[in-house]
Amino acid sequence: MGFDLVLFGGTGDLAWRKIMPALFQAFRHGNLPEGGRIVCVGRDDLSHAQYRALIQGRFDGVELAKRPSAEEFARFADLLHYLRMDLSQPADYARLAQVLNARAAETVVMYLATAPSLFTTVCEQIAAEGLNGPQTRVVLEKPLGHDLASNQAINAALRKVLREEQVFRIDHYLGKPSVQNLFALRFGNALFEPLWRRETIANIQITIAEELGVESRGAFYDQTGALRDMVQNHALQLLCAIGMEPPINATAHAIRDEKLKVLQSLKPWTPETLGQHVVRGQYLPGLSQGRPVPGYAQEKGVAPGSQTETFVALRTEISNWRWAGVPFYIRTGKRLAGRNAHIVVNFRPVPHPIFNSPASSANRLVINLQPQDGLELHLLAQDASQRRAAPSLSPVQLNLDFDQRFGSERVGAYERLLLDVIAGRLNLFVRSDEQEQAWRWVEPLLEHWRNDTSGPRGYAAGSWGPSAASAMIARDGFCWSEEV
Ligand code: BG6
Repeated sequence: MGFDLVLFGGTGDLAWRKIMPALFQAFRHGNLPEGGRIVCVGRDDLSHAQYRALIQGRFDGVELAKRPSAEEFARFADLLHYLRMDLSQPADYARLAQVLNARAAETVVMYLATAPSLFTTVCEQIAAEGLNGPQTRVVLEKPLGHDLASNQAINAALRKVLREEQVFRIDHYLGKPSVQNLFALRFGNALFEPLWRRETIANIQITIAEELGVESRGAFYDQTGALRDMVQNHALQLLCAIGMEPPINATAHAIRDEKLKVLQSLKPWTPETLGQHVVRGQYLPGLSQGRPVPGYAQEKGVAPGSQTETFVALRTEISNWRWAGVPFYIRTGKRLAGRNAHIVVNFRPVPHPIFNSPASSANRLVINLQPQDGLELHLLAQDASQRRAAPSLSPVQLNLDFDQRFGSERVGAYERLLLDVIAGRLNLFVRSDEQEQAWRWVEPLLEHWRNDTSGPRGYAAGSWGPSAASAMIARDGFCWSEEV
């Protein structure tokens, strides 16, 4: 009968910022399967009615179009139940078991929106109550560990009580419509595939720029940094989507096998590349949208003299027949010039230019992930209004705006992922071996920084990061897309 979704961390930040709004959107769009129940777990002593009122109040902070009317909320609230639990107390799991066993839902989703230090305990305790049967799916938020060893320890503990198919590791970038479109672009169309290789592509750039600083998460972020927060997961998943071979079919296994091969093919770090192909930065005071903003060191929760990086730019290669020698650049940071995530595929110039035209990077495919979702194809064309004798070409751009084509009311990342968990679709979730391989690859960087006392380079808030990031790419004869 229907599904039960148990939301551990039901009074936490993630629950009200991301998960509740996504569940409400799924409900509003009629996408939540019939007969569902959402059991929210928290430490506070609240009645169902008090919890529902709390959630309703939280919706005041949500943008107007996504806010429920009183009547809509009343219908949505019927799904919400509250259970007080202390997650360190085994006896409290017996009460959870009572609540769940009374209904015997077809699917039970355990969503762990808690501190990662609780993941192992919660999974062991639900297993001790016999709640880990085949109908159970466990959703884990990142970060899953802070290095390879801690990630492996969590995965090993999970393996004792759950099968891999029951574990849904979230990387919300995979739920973004734009990222799913990347799979569609590459594997639903024959057009680009013959060009998708070293013979035609000069370099690929992945940028995830954020305008915001660390906001209220200073204490967490100071222990984490941009490499663990964004590169180990989101940026490497984008790299996999752009670099992987076509999977043999669209099943989770086939897709994840191919992504794993990309991660296994990433060029290992050497002392030389650690020195030259990685730039870390930390934001200084500056301007964001014309407003003065503090530097990272002045943010609440940040340790004095912190060496935590808020910016990373790096260069790597995928060592296989398709990509050998093609540089892949990854860049991500907080307090940059704008909120902008995109992938730029720069094609090689023509082998023998006969026109008088701008030489470099004439052909570019830009995959825009956010704020807009769409494609730009950059070409050269003859401008017929010119009256010069020698033919000269001008850059032109073809735009495909998916928001305009499909409407901006698209299924958001969290809504997509929640619906997939309920339906048991693993395609957009990360398998343990992928995650471990990503940690294995970033570990030498973490190690290098631990021993490198020079620390991160400062960059002004509102800029594009330290100038060393531009120097790094310039050494290869290329530049970042905003510098073209
Ligand atoms: C999260 C990081 O995973 O992704 C945050 O922990 C970051 O630090 C966020 O701000 C970015 O997500 P989005 O969807 O806003 O690009």
